[in-house]
Amino acid sequence: MKLFRFDRLAWIFMRVSGFILIALIFTHLTVNLMQDGGVKAIDFAFVAGKLANPFWQWFDVTLLWLALIHGSNGMRVVVNDYVERTGVRRFLLASLVISTTTLIVLGTLVIFTLDPCPVGSPSDLLPSFCPAG
Ligand code: HEM
Repeated sequence: MKLFRFDRLAWIFMRVSGFILIALIFTHLTVNLMQDGGVKAIDFAFVAGKLANPFWQWFDVTLLWLALIHGSNGMRVVVNDYVERTGVRRFLLASLVISTTTLIVLGTLVIFTLDPCPVGSPSDLLPSFCPAG
C-alpha cells in the first residue's frame, strides 16, 4: 500500500473536509440569516462590512476552497465511475479543473480585494464605518 497515493489522500480529504464543511456552512447560514430582517437584510453594506473583517475573510476563504475542492473532487469520482469514453472523460475532467480553478481564483480575489467604501456611492448603501456611510 502506497501511503501517499493521490486517491488515498483524496479519500481522506473528502472525509475531513466534509466534517469541517458542516460546521462552516451552518455558521455561515446562521450568521447570514439570523440577523434582524433575515435574508432581506443582506445588502452591499452587510456583505462589505463582513468582508472588511479579517475573521470573516479567512472564514469565507476557507469555506470557498473547501466547498469547491470537495464538490469538484466528488464530481471527478462520478465522472471516473460513469464516463467510459476516454475523450469525453478527459474533456469533463479538464473542464472541472478549469472551472474550479477559475472560481477559486475569482472568489479569493473578491474576498481579499473588495473595496467596502467605493467612492461616489450613495451613502445609505455603504457600511457605517465608511467616511460617506
Ligand atoms: C440560504 C443560503 C445562503 C445564503 C443566504 C448565503 C448568503 C451569503 C452572503 C450574504 C455572502 C456574502 C457575505 C458573507 O461572506 O457571508 C455569501 C458568501 C459565500 N457563501 Fe453563502 N449563503 C448561503 C448558502 C451557502 C452555502 C450552502 C455555501 C457552501 C456550500 C455557501 C458558500 C459561500 C461562500 C464560499 C461565500 C464567499 C464567496 C466569495 O466571496 O467568493 N453559501 N453567502
